Amino acid sequence: MWAPYDEDTYRQAATWIKAGQRVLDIGAGDLRFARRLTAQGCRVIAIDNQWSILMRSLQDGPLPSGLLAVCADARGFPFPSGMDTAVLLMRHCMDFGLYVRKLREVGCLSLITNARWGMGVEYVPLEPATPTLDAASTIGWYACLTCGKIGFQASDPNAIDDSVLDQTLNIEACPVCQGFTSQ
Ligand SMILES: C[S@@+](CC[C@H](N)C(=O)[O-])C[C@H]1O[C@@H](n2cnc3c(N)ncnc32)[C@H](O)[C@@H]1O
Repeated sequence: MWAPYDEDTYRQAATWIKAGQRVLDIGAGDLRFARRLTAQGCRVIAIDNQWSILMRSLQDGPLPSGLLAVCADARGFPFPSGMDTAVLLMRHCMDFGLYVRKLREVGCLSLITNARWGMGVEYVPLEPATPTLDAASTIGWYACLTCGKIGFQASDPNAIDDSVLDQTLNIEACPVCQGFTSQ
């Protein structure tokens, strides 16, 4: 099934992408965001596994020259190298960790996504992150690159202030997956 997100999501996501960048849009739907990025001067490879949605996007006009649309299952489709950033606007995605692994394998080091939090949109650097939570000293929100789970590491409640709540620790292994993936 496919449904678009709100304009704030697309507007925020677009601010992290610069003209001239090469972008891989995973689960691109009717290509509305891919077209927007192309109009912004990017070159975009957009993948979606639903032929009917991709075809429907042609009602918005022919594909611009900077946009290549691929009908494929992104889980098995070999990701191209040379991408500056990837976009995964797919709130109910179950394959976050798989996509992070595939992107890292081809040298793509940033991801713009709503898949971990299921709301809003975040910029995720894909360089090696903090390995895991230090149970003794870490307090606050975390988001895992291996499995996509998010959570809050509790500790002394008196230590929780706005600065703690405002930041999220990007980690390689969380209490749920412990760095292991089934994919
Ligand atoms: C909620 S829609 C969002 C579409 C687009 N990213 C947007 O924000 O407008 C999610 C899209 O992901 C596609 N999708 C889901 N699983 C996929 C997969 N394994 N490979 C390729 N596309 C997939 C669906 O067909 C759907 O079009």
